Amino acid sequence: MANGTDGDHFKARSDMQPDQLSKDPVVTGATSGIGKAYASELARRGLDVVLVSRSADKLQMVAKEIEDQYGRKTRTIQVDFTDGHSIYPAIAKALQGLEIGILVPDAERKITQVINCNMLSVPQMTRLVLPGMIERETGLIINMSSMVGTSPQPLLSLYSATKIFVSYFSQCLHAEYKSKGITVQCVAPFMVSTNMTMNMKVNCFVKSASGFAREALNTVGHSSYTSGCLSHALQNVAISILLPDWLRMSSFLIKMLRNLAKVTEAKQKQELREKEE
Ligand SMILES: NC(=O)c1ccc[n+]([C@@H]2O[C@H](COP(=O)([O-])OP(=O)(O)OC[C@H]3O[C@@H](n4cnc5c(N)ncnc54)[C@H](OP(=O)(O)O)[C@@H]3O)[C@@H](O)[C@H]2O)c1
Repeated sequence: MANGTDGDHFKARSDMQPDQLSKDPVVTGATSGIGKAYASELARRGLDVVLVSRSADKLQMVAKEIEDQYGRKTRTIQVDFTDGHSIYPAIAKALQGLEIGILVPDAERKITQVINCNMLSVPQMTRLVLPGMIERETGLIINMSSMVGTSPQPLLSLYSATKIFVSYFSQCLHAEYKSKGITVQCVAPFMVSTNMTMNMKVNCFVKSASGFAREALNTVGHSSYTSGCLSHALQNVAISILLPDWLRMSSFLIKMLRNLAKVTEAKQKQELREKEE
């Protein structure tokens, strides 16, 4: 939900649009879904982009796609965020010489892996780019949280907990650095049709990745904490009224959701078997 927290005092400095920060944006998780959509949208707006992801072949493919479609330059960095802290010196080396104006960390796997990928990567990537931003007195960091990081989400415990980390980290950092000309925006979407959500059908609730990135980038400078798009902001309001915390955390609802998950899984297996026959 759009929920800007800037005071007027800081408005002029933090009121920046991504296209005004014409310096080497870095997008992690840039080979599919929301990250790829952000990278394409930044290139469409005239920026050269640095793409960071796990799969070298996908990186080359996306880089070529962006270069051909938007005529912008790209640079790729191949890393696996689940490898933990050991990868960051190599990333720092690869980023050397770049003037990074925008950071969009956005990657996605099990306990240590989920923590390394969803949590550790966020402050580590921030540490690599923040000093340059402070020196230049300008910068934009967009961190991808989730609607399930806005309140505790049973059955998605670990994922939900990693996303509240992203949310708090981003909001604190924004408060600390907005007076230095740096915007840290936290984006907390509902459903976006990507590999992670099994490319579900786009409708008035589920946004396409490209549509989402376009709308979300337009909120930069207006809001430091956002659902990213109007549809998700409305869903957030509706859910907070229709599904209050006491109900979402109740054993009754958790039992219902577990049963629903079993039925859905059985249905998916059945569909898969039918397809194979
Ligand atoms: N889709 C939604 O409905 C939704 C809703 C709320 C929040 N989010 C958040 O948005 C972010 C992006 O999700 P998405 O739906 O766009 O996912 P996605 O389509 O699965 O894309 C994930 C991206 O991250 C990269 N990646 C995955 N694991 C990685 C690793 N260990 N190291 C480096 N890169 C890695 C992938 O690269 P390769 O494929 O090349 O390995 C890919 O480029 C996530 O943080 C997710 O939690 C998504």
